[in-house]
Amino acid sequence: MELLRTVAELRTHLAARQPVAFVPTMGNLHEGHLSLVRLARARGGCVVASIFVNRLQFGPAEDFDTYPRTFDSDCAGLADAGVDVVFAPDEREVYPEPQEFRVAPPPIGEALEGEFRPGFFGGVATVVLKLFNIVQPRMAAFGKKDYQQLMIVRSMVRQLNLPIEIVAGETIRAADGLALSSRNNYLSGAERAEAPRLYRALASLKEQLTDGKRDFRVLESAATADLQGAGWRPEYVAVRKQADLQLPGPTDRELVVLGAAWLGATRLIDNLEVNLPR
Ligand code: PAJ
Repeated sequence: MELLRTVAELRTHLAARQPVAFVPTMGNLHEGHLSLVRLARARGGCVVASIFVNRLQFGPAEDFDTYPRTFDSDCAGLADAGVDVVFAPDEREVYPEPQEFRVAPPPIGEALEGEFRPGFFGGVATVVLKLFNIVQPRMAAFGKKDYQQLMIVRSMVRQLNLPIEIVAGETIRAADGLALSSRNNYLSGAERAEAPRLYRALASLKEQLTDGKRDFRVLESAATADLQGAGWRPEYVAVRKQADLQLPGPTDRELVVLGAAWLGATRLIDNLEVNLPR
C-alpha cells in the first residue's frame, strides 16, 4: 500500500493505474468504512482511500479539534482491507489558498442535518468535489449511514455531469443495533448502553409504517417523545422519500426514516429505509 501526501504524487502514481475506485473518509476508521473499501475492491481497479478531516464542514462550535485522529491504526486497517493507495493530505495541500469558490448545495441541504448544522453540506460538497477532481475516480463509495450526504453527493454528480458512478454501502451496526460511527468514541459506558435507543425508535417507527400507519407527524412525534423521555435531546425524527428526502405523500412507497439526537454531549444520527409493498 502506498501512502501519498500530495496531489502531485497522487496524480503521478495514478496515471498508470486506471480505473480508480475511491473511498473518501475523515479517518478513525471502523467496519463501516472498511465495508466501503470492500465495495470499491469488488470493482477490480486501483482502490484509493482518503483520510482528511475537513475543517470546512465543521461549525465553529463543533468538534473539529477533538475529532478522533487515529492515523496509524487507520492505515493498518486499510492495508488489511486491500487498499492500494492512501491519500492523506495536510490542510495546506487541500486548501493552499482561502477556499472562496464553494459548492452551493440545493435547498434540501438546508433541511434535516442542514437545519442543525448550517454550512455542513456546503463544506461536504466542496471537499468531495475537490477530492473527485484530485483523485479522478470512475467510482466512489459512500455509506447510507449519512443518507442525506449520499443523496446530495448523488445529485451533485448528476447535475454537474461528473463521470463518476456513486455506489451506496449499507449501514454497518453493532450487535445491539447502534450504527458504527467515529463519534461513538465520545460516549461514556452508560451512554453506550443507552445509545441503541435511537436505532430502536427508528425501527419501531418503520414497523408502524409497515403495518400501514400513515400519519407521519404522529409517528415522528411519538419517536421524538420516546427519546426525550429517556433523557435525549432529539433534533429531528422525519419520514421522507428516499429519492429526494422531500415530504412523502400517502401513496409513496420508498421511504426513509431519519433521526438525529444528542445523548449527553454526543450527537448521533441514524436512518432506516422502508420499502412498502405495492
Ligand atoms: P466519515 O464520517 O469518515 O465517513 C466516510 C464514509 O463512511 C461516508 O461515506 C460514511 O457514510 C461512511 N460510513 C460511516 N459510518 C458508516 C457505517 N456505520 N456504515 C456504513 N458506512 C458508514 O462522511 C464523511 O467522512 C465526510 O463527510 C466525507 C465524505 C469524507 C467528506 O469530508
